[in-house]
Amino acid sequence: MTVMPKLADLLDQSFDPFEIEKLSTGDADDPYPRIHELREKGTVLKGSYRTEFTDVPDVQVGHLEQYMVLGYDTILKVLTNPEVFGNRGAFQHTLGKSFGRTVTVMDAPEHTRYRKIFQKAFLPNTVAKWGETFVDPVVNRLMGAFIDRGEADLVEEFTHHYPFQVIYSQLQIGQEQTKVFHKLAIAQLLSAIGAPQGPEATEKLGDFFRELLAQRRADPGDDLISHLATVEADGERLPDEVLISFLRQLMNAGGDTTFRGTSVLFTGLLTHPEQWEAVAADRSLIPQAIEEALRWEGPVSNTMRYVNEDTELDGVFLPEGTILNMVLGSANRDPGKYPNPDKFDIFRERKVRNLAFANGPHVCIGQHLARLEMTRALHAILDHTRNMRLDPDKPAPDIRGHLLRVPDHIYVKFDKA
Ligand code: HEM
Repeated sequence: MTVMPKLADLLDQSFDPFEIEKLSTGDADDPYPRIHELREKGTVLKGSYRTEFTDVPDVQVGHLEQYMVLGYDTILKVLTNPEVFGNRGAFQHTLGKSFGRTVTVMDAPEHTRYRKIFQKAFLPNTVAKWGETFVDPVVNRLMGAFIDRGEADLVEEFTHHYPFQVIYSQLQIGQEQTKVFHKLAIAQLLSAIGAPQGPEATEKLGDFFRELLAQRRADPGDDLISHLATVEADGERLPDEVLISFLRQLMNAGGDTTFRGTSVLFTGLLTHPEQWEAVAADRSLIPQAIEEALRWEGPVSNTMRYVNEDTELDGVFLPEGTILNMVLGSANRDPGKYPNPDKFDIFRERKVRNLAFANGPHVCIGQHLARLEMTRALHAILDHTRNMRLDPDKPAPDIRGHLLRVPDHIYVKFDKA
Protein backbone atom coordinates (compact mmCIF):
# COMPACT_ATOMS: atom_id res chain seq x y z
CA MET A 1 0.00 0.00 0.00
CA THR A 2 1.33 3.47 -0.91
CA VAL A 3 1.87 5.91 1.95
CA MET A 4 0.28 9.36 1.52
CA PRO A 5 2.77 12.23 1.27
CA LYS A 6 2.96 14.23 4.51
CA LEU A 7 1.52 17.73 4.39
CA ALA A 8 3.71 20.27 6.20
CA ASP A 9 1.87 22.61 8.60
CA LEU A 10 2.53 26.39 8.73
CA LEU A 11 5.70 27.31 10.63
CA ASP A 12 3.57 29.25 13.11
CA GLN A 13 1.16 26.50 14.09
CA SER A 14 -0.85 28.80 16.32
CA PHE A 15 -1.79 31.01 13.37
CA ASP A 16 -5.54 30.83 12.72
CA PRO A 17 -6.36 31.80 9.11
CA PHE A 18 -10.12 31.28 9.50
CA GLU A 19 -10.74 34.45 11.52
CA ILE A 20 -8.56 36.56 9.25
CA GLU A 21 -10.28 35.16 6.16
CA LYS A 22 -13.43 36.96 7.26
CA LEU A 23 -11.62 40.18 6.43
CA SER A 24 -11.52 39.25 2.77
CA THR A 25 -15.06 37.84 2.55
CA GLY A 26 -16.49 40.69 4.63
CA ASP A 27 -19.17 40.92 7.29
CA ALA A 28 -21.71 43.08 5.45
CA ASP A 29 -25.21 42.52 6.71
CA ASP A 30 -27.32 43.00 3.60
CA PRO A 31 -25.52 44.65 0.65
CA TYR A 32 -28.56 44.50 -1.63
CA PRO A 33 -30.29 47.81 -0.74
CA ARG A 34 -27.03 49.62 -1.57
CA ILE A 35 -26.55 47.50 -4.72
CA HIS A 36 -30.04 48.54 -5.91
CA GLU A 37 -29.20 52.20 -5.21
CA LEU A 38 -25.98 51.94 -7.19
CA ARG A 39 -27.64 50.17 -10.14
CA GLU A 40 -30.26 52.91 -10.33
CA LYS A 41 -27.44 55.44 -10.81
CA GLY A 42 -26.04 53.51 -13.76
CA THR A 43 -25.04 50.06 -15.02
CA VAL A 44 -21.34 51.02 -15.17
CA LEU A 45 -20.10 53.12 -12.23
CA LYS A 46 -16.66 54.23 -11.12
CA GLY A 47 -15.50 52.54 -7.89
CA SER A 48 -14.67 49.15 -6.42
CA TYR A 49 -17.03 46.60 -4.92
CA ARG A 50 -14.60 45.87 -2.08
CA THR A 51 -14.17 49.48 -1.00
CA GLU A 52 -17.92 50.03 -1.31
CA PHE A 53 -18.62 47.29 1.25
CA THR A 54 -15.54 46.93 3.49
CA ASP A 55 -12.88 49.01 5.22
CA VAL A 56 -10.17 46.53 4.22
CA PRO A 57 -7.51 48.18 2.04
CA ASP A 58 -7.24 46.59 -1.39
CA VAL A 59 -3.55 45.70 -1.53
CA GLN A 60 -3.93 43.73 -4.75
CA VAL A 61 -5.69 45.84 -7.36
CA GLY A 62 -6.29 49.01 -5.35
CA HIS A 63 -3.67 50.82 -7.46
CA LEU A 64 -5.67 50.27 -10.67
CA GLU A 65 -8.66 52.27 -11.91
CA GLN A 66 -11.85 50.36 -11.12
CA TYR A 67 -15.47 50.33 -12.24
CA MET A 68 -18.47 48.33 -11.03
CA VAL A 69 -20.74 46.68 -13.61
CA LEU A 70 -24.24 46.27 -12.23
CA GLY A 71 -26.85 45.50 -14.89
CA TYR A 72 -27.67 41.93 -15.96
CA ASP A 73 -27.36 42.58 -19.71
CA THR A 74 -24.15 44.58 -19.32
CA ILE A 75 -22.53 41.89 -17.16
CA LEU A 76 -23.50 39.23 -19.68
CA LYS A 77 -22.06 41.36 -22.49
CA VAL A 78 -18.71 41.59 -20.67
CA LEU A 79 -18.54 37.92 -19.67
CA THR A 80 -19.15 36.80 -23.24
CA ASN A 81 -16.58 39.15 -24.82
CA PRO A 82 -13.29 37.74 -23.46
CA GLU A 83 -11.11 39.36 -26.11
CA VAL A 84 -11.83 42.84 -24.80
CA PHE A 85 -12.55 41.86 -21.17
CA GLY A 86 -9.90 39.38 -20.06
CA ASN A 87 -9.14 37.40 -16.91
CA ARG A 88 -5.35 37.37 -16.78
CA GLY A 89 -4.80 41.10 -16.26
CA ALA A 90 -7.12 41.04 -13.24
CA PHE A 91 -6.55 37.68 -11.56
CA GLN A 92 -2.74 37.66 -11.87
CA HIS A 93 -2.80 40.11 -8.94
CA THR A 94 -5.19 38.02 -6.83
CA LEU A 95 -5.93 34.30 -7.33
CA GLY A 96 -2.80 33.92 -9.44
CA LYS A 97 -0.73 34.78 -6.35
CA SER A 98 -2.59 32.25 -4.20
CA PHE A 99 -3.04 29.35 -6.62
CA GLY A 100 -0.48 29.85 -9.43
CA ARG A 101 -1.20 29.14 -13.10
CA THR A 102 -4.85 28.19 -12.82
CA VAL A 103 -7.53 28.43 -15.54
CA THR A 104 -9.09 31.48 -13.87
CA VAL A 105 -5.89 33.43 -14.52
CA MET A 106 -5.64 32.44 -18.21
CA ASP A 107 -6.94 34.05 -21.39
CA ALA A 108 -7.38 32.38 -24.80
CA PRO A 109 -5.71 30.56 -26.48
CA GLU A 110 -4.08 29.06 -23.36
CA HIS A 111 -7.39 28.97 -21.45
CA THR A 112 -9.28 27.25 -24.28
CA ARG A 113 -6.62 24.57 -24.57
CA TYR A 114 -6.47 23.59 -20.89
CA ARG A 115 -10.13 24.17 -20.07
CA LYS A 116 -11.03 21.58 -22.73
CA ILE A 117 -8.96 18.96 -20.89
CA PHE A 118 -10.34 19.81 -17.42
CA GLN A 119 -13.87 19.82 -18.76
CA LYS A 120 -13.53 16.17 -19.76
CA ALA A 121 -13.01 15.31 -16.10
CA PHE A 122 -16.19 17.19 -15.09
CA LEU A 123 -18.69 16.07 -17.73
CA PRO A 124 -22.26 15.65 -16.41
CA ASN A 125 -22.16 11.82 -16.86
CA THR A 126 -18.86 11.51 -15.00
CA VAL A 127 -20.03 13.80 -12.22
CA ALA A 128 -23.41 12.04 -11.90
CA LYS A 129 -21.60 8.85 -10.81
CA TRP A 130 -19.92 10.73 -7.94
CA GLY A 131 -23.33 11.20 -6.27
CA GLU A 132 -23.41 7.65 -4.97
CA THR A 133 -19.70 7.04 -4.65
CA PHE A 134 -18.53 10.27 -3.03
CA VAL A 135 -21.41 12.51 -1.93
CA ASP A 136 -23.94 10.13 -0.29
CA PRO A 137 -21.49 8.41 2.09
CA VAL A 138 -20.26 11.78 3.40
CA VAL A 139 -23.75 13.26 3.75
CA ASN A 140 -25.10 10.17 5.52
CA ARG A 141 -22.15 10.00 7.90
CA LEU A 142 -22.57 13.64 8.95
CA MET A 143 -26.33 13.30 9.35
CA GLY A 144 -25.90 10.16 11.45
CA ALA A 145 -24.24 12.27 14.16
CA PHE A 146 -27.30 14.48 14.80
CA ILE A 147 -30.34 12.69 13.43
CA ASP A 148 -31.39 11.11 16.77
CA ARG A 149 -31.22 14.43 18.61
CA GLY A 150 -34.23 16.14 16.96
CA GLU A 151 -32.31 19.39 16.70
CA ALA A 152 -29.12 20.61 15.03
CA ASP A 153 -27.15 23.53 13.67
CA LEU A 154 -27.21 22.68 9.98
CA VAL A 155 -24.17 24.90 9.28
CA GLU A 156 -21.89 23.69 12.07
CA GLU A 157 -22.88 20.06 11.76
CA PHE A 158 -23.61 19.61 8.09
CA THR A 159 -23.16 22.23 5.36
CA HIS A 160 -19.81 23.52 6.61
CA HIS A 161 -18.28 20.07 6.30
CA TYR A 162 -19.76 18.03 3.53
CA PRO A 163 -18.33 19.68 0.35
CA PHE A 164 -14.83 19.66 1.88
CA GLN A 165 -15.17 16.04 2.92
CA VAL A 166 -16.29 15.16 -0.60
CA ILE A 167 -13.06 16.74 -1.85
CA TYR A 168 -10.96 14.85 0.75
CA SER A 169 -12.54 11.62 -0.26
CA GLN A 170 -12.01 12.35 -3.96
CA LEU A 171 -8.38 13.21 -3.33
CA GLN A 172 -8.18 10.32 -0.85
CA ILE A 173 -6.65 12.50 1.81
CA GLY A 174 -6.73 10.63 5.12
CA GLN A 175 -8.65 12.05 8.10
CA GLU A 176 -5.40 12.74 9.98
CA GLN A 177 -4.32 15.32 7.39
CA THR A 178 -7.60 17.13 6.72
CA LYS A 179 -7.18 19.74 9.45
CA VAL A 180 -3.85 20.97 8.13
CA PHE A 181 -5.13 20.71 4.56
CA HIS A 182 -8.13 22.95 5.28
CA LYS A 183 -5.96 25.42 7.19
CA LEU A 184 -3.49 25.71 4.29
CA ALA A 185 -6.29 26.02 1.74
CA ILE A 186 -7.63 29.04 3.60
CA ALA A 187 -4.20 30.46 4.48
CA GLN A 188 -3.16 30.62 0.81
CA LEU A 189 -5.91 33.21 0.24
CA LEU A 190 -4.25 35.54 2.72
CA SER A 191 -1.84 36.74 0.04
CA ALA A 192 -4.85 38.99 -0.68
CA ILE A 193 -4.05 40.98 2.46
CA GLY A 194 -0.28 40.63 2.25
CA ALA A 195 0.08 38.03 5.07
CA PRO A 196 3.32 35.98 4.81
CA GLN A 197 1.38 32.78 5.58
CA GLY A 198 -0.25 33.12 2.12
CA PRO A 199 2.83 32.26 0.01
CA GLU A 200 3.98 29.74 2.63
CA ALA A 201 0.69 27.82 2.31
CA THR A 202 0.79 28.00 -1.51
CA GLU A 203 4.27 26.44 -1.53
CA LYS A 204 3.44 23.70 0.99
CA LEU A 205 0.29 22.63 -0.85
CA GLY A 206 2.30 22.61 -4.10
CA ASP A 207 4.94 20.26 -2.64
CA PHE A 208 2.24 17.94 -1.34
CA PHE A 209 0.31 17.78 -4.64
CA ARG A 210 3.51 17.27 -6.66
CA GLU A 211 4.32 14.17 -4.66
CA LEU A 212 0.73 12.95 -4.74
CA LEU A 213 0.58 13.31 -8.53
CA ALA A 214 3.76 11.32 -9.00
CA GLN A 215 2.31 8.55 -6.81
CA ARG A 216 -1.03 8.41 -8.61
CA ARG A 217 0.65 8.43 -12.02
CA ALA A 218 2.75 5.46 -11.01
CA ASP A 219 -0.26 3.61 -9.63
CA PRO A 220 -3.51 5.19 -10.92
CA GLY A 221 -6.82 4.55 -9.15
CA ASP A 222 -10.40 5.64 -9.67
CA ASP A 223 -9.99 8.96 -7.83
CA LEU A 224 -10.08 12.53 -9.19
CA ILE A 225 -6.29 13.05 -9.07
CA SER A 226 -5.56 9.89 -11.07
CA HIS A 227 -8.24 10.93 -13.52
CA LEU A 228 -6.89 14.48 -13.93
CA ALA A 229 -3.33 13.22 -14.19
CA THR A 230 -4.20 10.98 -17.13
CA VAL A 231 -7.06 12.76 -18.93
CA GLU A 232 -6.27 13.97 -22.47
CA ALA A 233 -7.84 16.18 -25.16
CA ASP A 234 -6.45 16.19 -28.72
CA GLY A 235 -3.58 14.02 -27.48
CA GLU A 236 -2.51 16.58 -24.86
CA ARG A 237 -2.32 16.13 -21.09
CA LEU A 238 -2.31 18.76 -18.36
CA PRO A 239 1.16 20.00 -17.36
CA ASP A 240 1.94 19.47 -13.64
CA GLU A 241 2.09 23.19 -12.91
CA VAL A 242 -1.43 23.78 -14.28
CA LEU A 243 -2.81 20.72 -12.53
CA ILE A 244 -1.24 21.62 -9.18
CA SER A 245 -2.64 25.15 -9.42
CA PHE A 246 -6.09 23.70 -10.11
CA LEU A 247 -5.85 21.41 -7.08
CA ARG A 248 -4.85 24.38 -4.92
CA GLN A 249 -7.98 26.15 -6.13
CA LEU A 250 -10.33 23.20 -5.53
CA MET A 251 -11.03 23.73 -1.81
CA ASN A 252 -12.01 27.34 -2.35
CA ALA A 253 -13.65 27.11 -5.79
CA GLY A 254 -15.49 23.88 -5.00
CA GLY A 255 -15.69 23.67 -1.20
CA ASP A 256 -16.27 27.20 0.08
CA THR A 257 -18.81 27.95 -2.65
CA THR A 258 -20.86 24.76 -2.31
CA PHE A 259 -20.88 25.08 1.50
CA ARG A 260 -22.31 28.57 1.10
CA GLY A 261 -24.74 27.65 -1.70
CA THR A 262 -26.20 24.78 0.33
CA SER A 263 -26.49 26.91 3.48
CA VAL A 264 -28.37 29.55 1.49
CA LEU A 265 -30.66 26.89 -0.01
CA PHE A 266 -31.64 25.68 3.49
CA THR A 267 -32.01 29.28 4.72
CA GLY A 268 -34.27 30.29 1.83
CA LEU A 269 -36.53 27.27 2.23
CA LEU A 270 -36.68 27.20 6.03
CA THR A 271 -37.42 30.92 6.31
CA HIS A 272 -40.31 30.30 3.89
CA PRO A 273 -41.88 27.20 5.47
CA GLU A 274 -44.60 26.89 2.84
CA GLN A 275 -41.85 26.51 0.20
CA TRP A 276 -40.02 23.94 2.35
CA GLU A 277 -43.27 21.97 2.65
CA ALA A 278 -43.89 22.22 -1.10
CA VAL A 279 -40.45 20.76 -1.85
CA ALA A 280 -40.87 18.06 0.82
CA ALA A 281 -44.17 17.05 -0.79
CA ASP A 282 -42.85 17.17 -4.36
CA ARG A 283 -39.15 16.52 -4.86
CA SER A 284 -39.36 17.43 -8.54
CA LEU A 285 -39.26 21.06 -7.27
CA ILE A 286 -35.65 20.63 -6.03
CA PRO A 287 -33.94 21.89 -9.24
CA GLN A 288 -35.94 25.13 -9.25
CA ALA A 289 -35.36 25.59 -5.50
CA ILE A 290 -31.60 25.32 -6.13
CA GLU A 291 -31.71 27.79 -9.03
CA GLU A 292 -33.68 30.26 -6.89
CA ALA A 293 -31.19 29.97 -4.00
CA LEU A 294 -28.30 30.57 -6.41
CA ARG A 295 -30.06 33.60 -7.87
CA TRP A 296 -31.25 35.05 -4.54
CA GLU A 297 -27.96 34.77 -2.64
CA GLY A 298 -25.40 33.37 -5.09
CA PRO A 299 -22.25 32.54 -3.09
CA VAL A 300 -19.94 34.51 -5.43
CA SER A 301 -21.40 38.00 -5.46
CA ASN A 302 -18.54 39.63 -7.36
CA THR A 303 -15.83 38.65 -9.84
CA MET A 304 -13.41 40.66 -11.99
CA ARG A 305 -12.41 41.33 -15.57
CA TYR A 306 -9.58 43.43 -17.08
CA VAL A 307 -10.05 45.88 -19.94
CA ASN A 308 -7.56 44.72 -22.59
CA GLU A 309 -8.06 47.70 -24.94
CA ASP A 310 -9.75 51.13 -24.79
CA THR A 311 -13.47 50.55 -25.13
CA GLU A 312 -16.93 51.84 -24.27
CA LEU A 313 -19.56 50.07 -22.17
CA ASP A 314 -23.12 51.44 -21.92
CA GLY A 315 -21.76 54.85 -22.94
CA VAL A 316 -18.93 54.88 -20.37
CA PHE A 317 -15.37 55.12 -21.71
CA LEU A 318 -13.07 52.49 -20.19
CA PRO A 319 -9.34 52.87 -20.77
CA GLU A 320 -7.10 49.83 -21.26
CA GLY A 321 -5.90 48.57 -17.88
CA THR A 322 -9.15 49.21 -15.99
CA ILE A 323 -10.45 46.57 -13.54
CA LEU A 324 -14.15 45.76 -13.84
CA ASN A 325 -15.97 44.50 -10.77
CA MET A 326 -18.65 42.23 -12.19
CA VAL A 327 -21.32 42.31 -9.51
CA LEU A 328 -23.04 38.97 -10.18
CA GLY A 329 -25.26 39.52 -7.13
CA SER A 330 -26.56 42.69 -8.78
CA ALA A 331 -27.30 40.91 -12.09
CA ASN A 332 -29.24 38.24 -10.20
CA ARG A 333 -31.41 40.87 -8.53
CA ASP A 334 -31.85 43.12 -11.56
CA PRO A 335 -35.56 44.05 -11.42
CA GLY A 336 -35.58 44.28 -15.24
CA LYS A 337 -35.07 40.50 -15.32
CA TYR A 338 -36.56 39.34 -12.04
CA PRO A 339 -39.67 41.22 -10.81
CA ASN A 340 -39.64 41.64 -7.01
CA PRO A 341 -36.00 40.48 -7.03
CA ASP A 342 -35.35 40.42 -3.26
CA LYS A 343 -38.05 37.84 -2.69
CA PHE A 344 -37.05 34.18 -2.38
CA ASP A 345 -39.61 32.44 -4.55
CA ILE A 346 -38.95 29.01 -6.03
CA PHE A 347 -42.09 29.39 -8.18
CA ARG A 348 -40.99 32.61 -9.92
CA GLU A 349 -41.01 32.69 -13.69
CA ARG A 350 -37.49 32.23 -15.00
CA LYS A 351 -36.95 33.87 -18.38
CA VAL A 352 -33.18 34.20 -18.09
CA ARG A 353 -30.50 32.02 -16.55
CA ASN A 354 -29.04 33.37 -13.30
CA LEU A 355 -25.35 34.34 -13.33
CA ALA A 356 -24.34 32.64 -10.06
CA PHE A 357 -21.90 30.46 -12.02
CA ALA A 358 -21.03 33.42 -14.34
CA ASN A 359 -21.20 32.85 -18.12
CA GLY A 360 -18.95 32.76 -21.19
CA PRO A 361 -15.70 30.79 -21.50
CA HIS A 362 -14.91 30.91 -17.75
CA VAL A 363 -18.35 29.72 -16.61
CA CYS A 364 -17.98 27.53 -13.52
CA ILE A 365 -16.41 24.21 -14.45
CA GLY A 366 -17.87 22.56 -11.34
CA GLN A 367 -21.48 23.68 -11.78
CA HIS A 368 -22.81 20.16 -12.43
CA LEU A 369 -20.98 18.89 -9.37
CA ALA A 370 -22.25 21.80 -7.23
CA ARG A 371 -25.87 21.19 -8.28
CA LEU A 372 -25.47 17.47 -7.68
CA GLU A 373 -24.04 18.02 -4.19
CA MET A 374 -26.80 20.46 -3.24
CA THR A 375 -29.43 18.05 -4.58
CA ARG A 376 -28.07 15.07 -2.66
CA ALA A 377 -27.78 17.11 0.55
CA LEU A 378 -31.41 18.25 0.37
CA HIS A 379 -32.70 14.77 -0.54
CA ALA A 380 -30.81 13.25 2.39
CA ILE A 381 -32.32 15.70 4.89
CA LEU A 382 -35.82 15.23 3.46
CA ASP A 383 -35.43 11.43 3.46
CA HIS A 384 -34.42 11.23 7.12
CA THR A 385 -36.43 13.97 8.81
CA ARG A 386 -40.02 15.18 9.01
CA ASN A 387 -41.37 18.60 9.94
CA MET A 388 -38.02 20.37 9.83
CA ARG A 389 -38.38 23.95 11.07
CA LEU A 390 -36.25 26.81 12.43
CA ASP A 391 -35.72 26.54 16.19
CA PRO A 392 -37.95 29.33 17.63
CA ASP A 393 -35.73 29.65 20.73
CA LYS A 394 -32.54 30.39 18.79
CA PRO A 395 -31.53 33.26 16.48
CA ALA A 396 -32.81 32.97 12.91
CA PRO A 397 -30.18 32.42 10.17
CA ASP A 398 -28.47 35.66 9.18
CA ILE A 399 -26.68 35.66 5.81
CA ARG A 400 -23.59 37.89 6.02
CA GLY A 401 -20.52 38.83 3.96
CA HIS A 402 -19.96 40.95 0.90
CA LEU A 403 -18.05 38.54 -1.29
CA LEU A 404 -18.85 35.02 -0.16
CA ARG A 405 -22.14 35.22 1.71
CA VAL A 406 -23.32 32.65 4.27
CA PRO A 407 -25.18 32.40 7.61
CA ASP A 408 -23.03 31.32 10.58
CA HIS A 409 -25.82 29.10 11.96
CA ILE A 410 -29.07 27.49 10.91
CA TYR A 411 -30.63 26.16 14.12
CA VAL A 412 -33.39 23.66 13.39
CA LYS A 413 -35.72 21.22 15.11
CA PHE A 414 -37.22 18.15 13.41
CA ASP A 415 -38.75 14.71 13.89
CA LYS A 416 -36.91 11.63 12.74
CA ALA A 417 -38.52 10.01 9.68
C1 HEM B 1 -22.47 26.67 -5.62
C2 HEM B 1 -21.22 26.40 -5.93
C3 HEM B 1 -20.39 27.18 -6.88
C4 HEM B 1 -20.50 28.50 -7.30
C5 HEM B 1 -21.56 29.52 -6.92
C6 HEM B 1 -19.41 28.74 -8.22
C7 HEM B 1 -19.21 29.95 -8.88
C8 HEM B 1 -18.25 30.15 -9.86
C9 HEM B 1 -18.13 31.35 -10.65
C10 HEM B 1 -18.99 32.59 -10.51
C11 HEM B 1 -17.10 31.16 -11.53
C12 HEM B 1 -16.63 32.12 -12.62
C13 HEM B 1 -15.65 33.12 -12.11
C14 HEM B 1 -15.24 34.06 -13.23
O1 HEM B 1 -15.46 33.78 -14.41
O2 HEM B 1 -14.69 35.11 -12.92
C15 HEM B 1 -16.55 29.85 -11.26
C16 HEM B 1 -15.47 29.32 -11.91
C17 HEM B 1 -14.86 28.14 -11.54
N1 HEM B 1 -15.36 27.20 -10.67
FE1 HEM B 1 -17.07 27.35 -9.58
N2 HEM B 1 -18.64 27.61 -8.33
C18 HEM B 1 -19.22 26.62 -7.55
C19 HEM B 1 -18.77 25.33 -7.41
C20 HEM B 1 -17.63 24.81 -7.98
C21 HEM B 1 -17.16 23.46 -7.80
C22 HEM B 1 -17.87 22.34 -7.03
C23 HEM B 1 -15.96 23.38 -8.44
C24 HEM B 1 -15.04 22.19 -8.49
C25 HEM B 1 -14.86 21.43 -9.39
C26 HEM B 1 -15.70 24.67 -9.07
C27 HEM B 1 -14.59 25.01 -9.82
C28 HEM B 1 -14.46 26.16 -10.57
C29 HEM B 1 -13.31 26.47 -11.43
C30 HEM B 1 -12.07 25.61 -11.59
C31 HEM B 1 -13.57 27.69 -12.05
C32 HEM B 1 -12.69 28.45 -13.04
C33 HEM B 1 -13.15 28.14 -14.46
C34 HEM B 1 -12.42 28.94 -15.53
O3 HEM B 1 -11.90 30.01 -15.26
O4 HEM B 1 -12.41 28.47 -16.69
N3 HEM B 1 -16.74 25.51 -8.76
N4 HEM B 1 -17.27 29.25 -10.26
